[in-house]
Amino acid sequence: MAEVFHFELLGNGIGTLTFDSPGRPVNVFDRRALDELEQRIDELGRRDDLPCLVLLSGKEGNFIAGADVDEIAGVSDPLEAEAASRLGHRLFAAWEALPFPTIAAIRGSCFGGGTELSLASDHILVSDGDSARIALPEVKLGIVPAWGGCTRLPRRVGLSAALEVILTGKTIYPRKALRMGLADALIPEASFGHLVRDYAARVADGSQPSRRESGGLKELLLERNPVGRKLIFDQARKKTLESTHGNYPAPLRALEIVRVGIDDGPEAGFDAEARAVAELAIGRVSKNLLHVFHLTEDVKKRLPAPSEAAIEGVAVVGAGVMGGGIAQLVAEESGLPVRMKDLDAKALGLGMEHAARLFEKLVEKHRLSRPRALEKMALLRPTLDYSGFERCDLVVEAIVERLDVKRKVFAELADAVGSGAILASNTSSLSIDEIAGDVAAPERVIGMHFFNPVHKMPLVEVVRGRRTGDEAVRRVAAFARRLGKTPVVVTDAPGFLVNRLLMFSLGEALSLLEDGVPIATLDRVMKAWGMPMGPIELTDEVGLDVAVHVAGVVGDAFPDRLRIPEWLGRMVEDGRLGTKAGKGFYRYKGRRRQDPDPEVYPLLGLTPRDGAGEDGIVERVSLPMVNEAARCLAEGITSSAANVDLAMILGTGFPPFRGGLCRWADETGLERVLETLERLAEEVGPRFAPSDALRSVAEKDGFYAAYPAAAG
Ligand code: NAI
Repeated sequence: MAEVFHFELLGNGIGTLTFDSPGRPVNVFDRRALDELEQRIDELGRRDDLPCLVLLSGKEGNFIAGADVDEIAGVSDPLEAEAASRLGHRLFAAWEALPFPTIAAIRGSCFGGGTELSLASDHILVSDGDSARIALPEVKLGIVPAWGGCTRLPRRVGLSAALEVILTGKTIYPRKALRMGLADALIPEASFGHLVRDYAARVADGSQPSRRESGGLKELLLERNPVGRKLIFDQARKKTLESTHGNYPAPLRALEIVRVGIDDGPEAGFDAEARAVAELAIGRVSKNLLHVFHLTEDVKKRLPAPSEAAIEGVAVVGAGVMGGGIAQLVAEESGLPVRMKDLDAKALGLGMEHAARLFEKLVEKHRLSRPRALEKMALLRPTLDYSGFERCDLVVEAIVERLDVKRKVFAELADAVGSGAILASNTSSLSIDEIAGDVAAPERVIGMHFFNPVHKMPLVEVVRGRRTGDEAVRRVAAFARRLGKTPVVVTDAPGFLVNRLLMFSLGEALSLLEDGVPIATLDRVMKAWGMPMGPIELTDEVGLDVAVHVAGVVGDAFPDRLRIPEWLGRMVEDGRLGTKAGKGFYRYKGRRRQDPDPEVYPLLGLTPRDGAGEDGIVERVSLPMVNEAARCLAEGITSSAANVDLAMILGTGFPPFRGGLCRWADETGLERVLETLERLAEEVGPRFAPSDALRSVAEKDGFYAAYPAAAG
């Protein structure tokens, strides 16, 4: 059987250990890898001829992906989870105790257990290549770093920085890793192997001390200042509670473990890690988060590889909010040249400024070096005509949301590009079939619906029109992946998938305001339930003009069951366009949301009642989406419950710890969902009546049983 770890001696006597999981695209600490590592450490520990050992990866773009997520998902016994944690502790302690210095040479992504093994090494080197990144993402799976991460990281980078990394699971890019002291050196990707060997040679001859030896550790500082420490813990706890509303137990447990590890020493910290993971790994939140993780992975597996996109030149038409963002994203992620066209030189200038600002932020966050950002910015070629379009394989149109204008532009585009080029629209509400109009070869016309803000929102709806070809769907989905987004394929129907479901929720939120529920109460209840923003905050954020427009389109399509109060239009007439106008349902200071604007109630003829019931808000706002999701699936808007869940989590922030809209309904129990909808149909209005589609889902034992993801 092929080995997982390959040991080699370099000419100068330095040892290298290369992790290369056989048959896997990334290195995973599965059972077999752990067993073999234990054996290797045992053998290496008995050698007295090694001046130092370098840990390397045999995978392209990946150092170590971490523990085997399938094994975590399969755990149902707390003792099993605890034993897995203690095994990792034992192994990494043995690694740390090797009688020679160890160097983790990170190239590509390094997550979870990979980061923890690196933390148990004497030196950490990181490549400056584009794919290099480090994280402890365990809290995102509802667990905690339990192979020493909670205990070792604060000792390496200090308490504040460690908490930021552990409690959020965020990704650290190479430059940031160096600045915070997580990495000891940044190694230029172009000469990685060579420079790592030079570094190792210095470690071997004693001229390169480790941070521990050179006193660079923050340990002493941590130990000596209990008052400052308490302040940091209190602040972190407050921030965590604010962002999680107590819905995610893992970050709070991690906070406690870090405290124990510092106050009572590493052994106590390791022990706390093992006990916490035993409880968390079998909990509902972790199981739901693992479910969401699998949805994302499955979608990646089912889609064509990004390399299949065969796209070498891109054009974006319209340099507004969306066009500027899309052009920047393409330049950043794909490194391809991007033409950006607008009618108006001023708009073009603003689009370029928008892109430049986004690059500047990446530089500030140490995600890109300045020269690299400038290089990428230079890929953007502003233009007022169609010059250069003949060399583009993909055009993304993001101009005004008007059918007549879009049709005219598509007809022009069809002449401007080569016959193999794909013409995609970012429309949020118009029909792809209608936009395609009489364009020759309509199989190349498709929707590529990004969400605002483009650089942050991870979803792209790939909209298949009646005449769109499979080839275009495959290439656009693959290209969305290349841009780091998750594509979900939907069919061309009003609101597509996400906006359609969202409008059913927004409609009920607005009806609740009519019933006297104050804006603040409504938003607070939905945030406590897990939404990142309340429905009214979200409406301000999206923009009232956009919301009114989309609500109109979806409302016209389903007038019997979607109720959007007519007074919503008055907000737009009053100039209350939301966050971008500094005026909406809420008051603003700059772009910062303050409290709900009391002037809104008289403007809309509403009377908020203090103490209006909070009960039932979640049901009224969420269940219409469940009802409608069943209809979308029955109509074939998308093919699986998994697609609905991914789209809602990635496109609207539906709480991941609930596993997605359909999974939440399945777990609540479809019988209960039907009963509640029937009750609401009687008490509030017939629009709540359960759809036949939902009854059929209930008969088939739930969404995931009725609409499983297609295999292959
Ligand atoms: P915007 O108004 O910020 O930008 C539109 C740009 O297109 C302007 O710079 C305008 O000068 C330019 N333009 C208009 N006609 C043109 C033509 N014939 N040729 C070239 N350029 C032309 O609009 P925004 O918000 O960026 O929206 C663009 C598209 O993206 C719309 O279809 C919209 O429905 C869609 N969308 C918008 C979202 C949002 O939240 N703003 C979200 C998702 C999609």
